[in-house]
Amino acid sequence: MEGVHMIITVGQEAVHAGYLVLINGDHPVREDAGADRLRPIGVHGSLRGRQEGIRLEQTCLGQLAALLEASGGEKDIVIVSGFRSRTEQAVIYRQSLAENGKAYTSKYVALPNHSEHQTGLAVDVGKLVRDVDFIAPTFPDDGVCGRFKQLAAEYGFIMRYQEGKEAITRIACEPWHYRFVGRPHAALIGQHGFCLEEYIDFVRDYRYSGAHLTTKHGGGEAEIYFVPSRGDGNTPVPIVACEAYRISGNNVDGFIVTAFHGKEFARSEA
Ligand code: DAL
Ligand code: ZN
Repeated sequence: MEGVHMIITVGQEAVHAGYLVLINGDHPVREDAGADRLRPIGVHGSLRGRQEGIRLEQTCLGQLAALLEASGGEKDIVIVSGFRSRTEQAVIYRQSLAENGKAYTSKYVALPNHSEHQTGLAVDVGKLVRDVDFIAPTFPDDGVCGRFKQLAAEYGFIMRYQEGKEAITRIACEPWHYRFVGRPHAALIGQHGFCLEEYIDFVRDYRYSGAHLTTKHGGGEAEIYFVPSRGDGNTPVPIVACEAYRISGNNVDGFIVTAFHGKEFARSEA
């Protein structure tokens, strides 16, 4: 661990913002992503939307475009759903209840204010077939979809709802739903076989004053630690000496600091 470089004071509302917010049945979205953070997928000419008007948080979108290019999936993978407002999630939930019933809907559709689609950091992808299903698109483990899955962590994405984690996430396995968390976190989540709930608990044990998590990528390294929120008012967040850093709330009880060492890695995350 390197010495403290500076202290950033963050407000309580910042607990609920950033790439690592945990959104689930217990931890709601506090505020839909603002229009200033969202970009239409059309800004990347190579991306195909299932319908018009799909938007994503800007870094998530840039990384998705790079991932689709790297996996060779630009022609065969379609973007099915990105950012949804609370109102849109409520409409989707109601329609699914009417069309698919309660059991199916509670497995595959989050309640309004409990969907990470409201952050702009979640994207549903589907194999381009004649009728791509909106709620549960086909996304097989082979071919270009398999390559997308293999490469996803390198671009900062996790498959958010995995088989075997249903008791924790309370959502059924969704091979089509990817969540942007940033490259070092996606790598650690993959290495440990965690779902996001487990990772948020895991990181909580790496306090600033103790050992920090580290992960290597290319020529650089990311150093990760947790700073609990003071609960009300402002929390001073110590930042170690680094090339670049990011602070994200966990949407539960504090802040996760990611400090990048090495110019190459810092740039690839930007
Ligand atoms: N399909 C996921 C759970 C959502 O509705 O956010
Ligand atoms: Zn989804």
